Amino acid sequence: MKKRTLFTCQQCGCQSPKWLGRCPDCGQWNSLVEESVTPQRGAARGTATASSTPQRLTEVATSKEDRLLCGIGEFDQVLGGGVVAGSLILIGGDPGIGKSTLLLQAISRLSEQGGALYVTAEESTRQVRMRADRLGVRAENLYLLAETSLEAVLEQVRALKPGFLVIDSIQTIFTAALDSAPGSVSQVRECAGRLMQVAKGDAIPTFLVGHVTKDGAIAGPRMLEHMVDTVLYFEGEPGHPYRILRAVKNRFGSTNEIGVFQMKDSGLAEVGNPSELFLSERPEGAAGSAVVPAMEGSRPILVELQALVSGSSFGTPRRTTMGIDHNRVSLLVAVLEKKVGLSLLSQDIFLNVAGGVRLDEPAIDLGVMAALASSHLNRPIAARTIVFGEVGLAGEVRAVSHPELRVKEAARLGFDRCFLPAGSLKSVTAPAGLQLIGVKSAGEVMDGIF
Ligand code: TYD
Ligand code: MG
Repeated sequence: MKKRTLFTCQQCGCQSPKWLGRCPDCGQWNSLVEESVTPQRGAARGTATASSTPQRLTEVATSKEDRLLCGIGEFDQVLGGGVVAGSLILIGGDPGIGKSTLLLQAISRLSEQGGALYVTAEESTRQVRMRADRLGVRAENLYLLAETSLEAVLEQVRALKPGFLVIDSIQTIFTAALDSAPGSVSQVRECAGRLMQVAKGDAIPTFLVGHVTKDGAIAGPRMLEHMVDTVLYFEGEPGHPYRILRAVKNRFGSTNEIGVFQMKDSGLAEVGNPSELFLSERPEGAAGSAVVPAMEGSRPILVELQALVSGSSFGTPRRTTMGIDHNRVSLLVAVLEKKVGLSLLSQDIFLNVAGGVRLDEPAIDLGVMAALASSHLNRPIAARTIVFGEVGLAGEVRAVSHPELRVKEAARLGFDRCFLPAGSLKSVTAPAGLQLIGVKSAGEVMDGIF
């Protein structure tokens, strides 16, 4: 059969018959690489077989989806309440963030329910064994396979019939059916596709580890995200021990669900109570510190925002933010300037979310403004006070989602005063010991919060 070559964008997987300097799909420059493709024949091309005939919706057999729990509560929760039989799960994250550690811990627990095969395509079996010893993992039914050839892996899967399968990582596995290098878009796509057939066909839940490229996307991201059932990202700031496992896509549960872990000498430990952890090092009575209840998926988490506003010694003042969108902060600074009357134009502004968390919901706007004002005026925010609400360009405070959950979490951690949008007041019943103060404009908060 004649071989064809196609040019594939290594960023998004877009294909073109001729070379282009810029990918017409994702706009990336110089990302098209020539790859040869072997046309597939007959059945592989998806010719209809006798079994695929239309069925009435009501006649499709249903069974309650079986969930397999690994016993690491945070991990199970992110998956939407355990692993679903036959599901394909992608775990992405920066190299060194702890993906292999997390999966080794999870799979060793899961292997007690039907055995598991851990394909280690990056490390030797000895290295994995040494890590397991360090983690205190002893799993009799966990098999290791140091192999990079997809065909060899599939053969072992057929022979062993494991209950669970881990591929660490999808970028180092390759199939002989394609000429292109391991890690290239077509290899990643082909390998993931073949593994999906195994996961679905033999009902083996499969975890794929994927390294994230510098710009924050899993190599060959688009089609991988489409193919798999669940996409989890494992993230954390360098230098911080906290790690957040986040579901960005889940066919079997809600997205944006998160699990919080702490990297210790003996592996990843669950953090069952993240709010307490994130507030544990908060300075008492310091100007520039505000606590906000942020929603992470279905759970509220209290986090500390820290602002530092100081006179600039240069012509152009600096605006530096960590863990929060830079443009959002610039907007809120402009509102403070124009609507609240604080003079911040010539000030250097630094804003940080403590604990290395990333926040990107508008409900923290009011907290950002309170922290900035507190630092600028050098007046600490009153103790045990919490604040949330979205702020518009006119300085108005808008209602946000889940006020009830946020308020409850604040009460649980002993806060006694909460500033919230007046519009959210009617959907909240005040928990015992927590005073609710509804505000309509950002200026009102500045009057009462110090
Ligand atoms: P690893 O799971 O190898 O990361 P990934 O698979 O995402 O590339 O994690 C490596 C890092 O984790 C390494 O920097 C050391 C740290 N680590 C600990 O701090 N404690 C431990 O018990 C283990 C196993 C790793
Ligand atoms: Mg690894």
